[in-house]
Amino acid sequence: MPLPPLPAAAAFEGGCAFADGAFCALADAKISLFDWGFTRSDATYDVASVWQGAFFRLDTHIERFFASLASMRLAIPYSGAELRRILHGCVRGAGLRDAYVAMVCTRGVPPRGARDPRLAVNRFYAYALPFVWIAPPEKQAQGIDLHVSERVRIAPESVDPRVKNYHWIDLVQSLFDAYDRGRDTSCVVDAQGHIAEGPGFNVFMVKGGVVHTAERGVLEGVSRRTAIELCGWLGIPLRVQPLPATEFRQADEVFLTSTGGGILPVARLDGVPLPQFPGPVSKRLQAAYWAMHDEPACRDPVDYGA
Ligand SMILES: Cc1ncc(COP(=O)(O)O)c(C=O)c1O
Repeated sequence: MPLPPLPAAAAFEGGCAFADGAFCALADAKISLFDWGFTRSDATYDVASVWQGAFFRLDTHIERFFASLASMRLAIPYSGAELRRILHGCVRGAGLRDAYVAMVCTRGVPPRGARDPRLAVNRFYAYALPFVWIAPPEKQAQGIDLHVSERVRIAPESVDPRVKNYHWIDLVQSLFDAYDRGRDTSCVVDAQGHIAEGPGFNVFMVKGGVVHTAERGVLEGVSRRTAIELCGWLGIPLRVQPLPATEFRQADEVFLTSTGGGILPVARLDGVPLPQFPGPVSKRLQAAYWAMHDEPACRDPVDYGA
């Protein structure tokens, strides 16, 4: 599908979308009430970040999005290079230096009365908003209090968590549990009681200098991947294996990983202070994460036009 010209810099200041093949203001981007993305959560998406005027690991997000599309039997009428251009266009149109940039594909609307997903025309949307943190910097400084929920993440045999999805009811209910208890956010477990993930992040613990994170049953987050790679480069011992919630509660340090803030040290588990906050391993990884933003291989500077 031919691409429209990129919008002028800050033409849609503060937030710009790409919907129905055109750039527009966020408020003008529309989705049908009958889109299966809405009525069935039949959609996939990805979120990249722009920090100080450059995308971070955009190619990795685009690769993951195309893998998710293939797995869901969804398709968009754009190549990877065109998608990259659209995402750059959204950031330029929004005029943002630090941004949350989403790409979304929904099943679309099958003809009236039809229940066959093959008959739907898939829809593609993208948008850029001001950067969204999992926890804002003030909360990070104060210390995140994580509720370790007993709620079980939807089974990976039912919905493949490696495909970024909107099956979030378990995560959202765990957030309500967290807020009811005065906590800041939550994580859920798998059916065997291993720590899975949280609403928008992967979960890590450090015990005796060794970093641990779940092996399966979670989204393979780009930030999780970055943390894993950094452990290798920095010579920090790492175990990617099931992490029982009982062991997790004995952690020395805990941190979360997300595009919404990178590596986020946790201060308390269910109100109980962790022995180390921010712990030395979390701090080292956090510093290395932000230093990676200056590496040319990870940066894709936004062309803001004149
Ligand atoms: C359920 C879930 N797990 C983990 C993550 C972290 O993934 P990433 O590091 O790619 O942002 C997200 C991000 O939105 C998520 O929704």
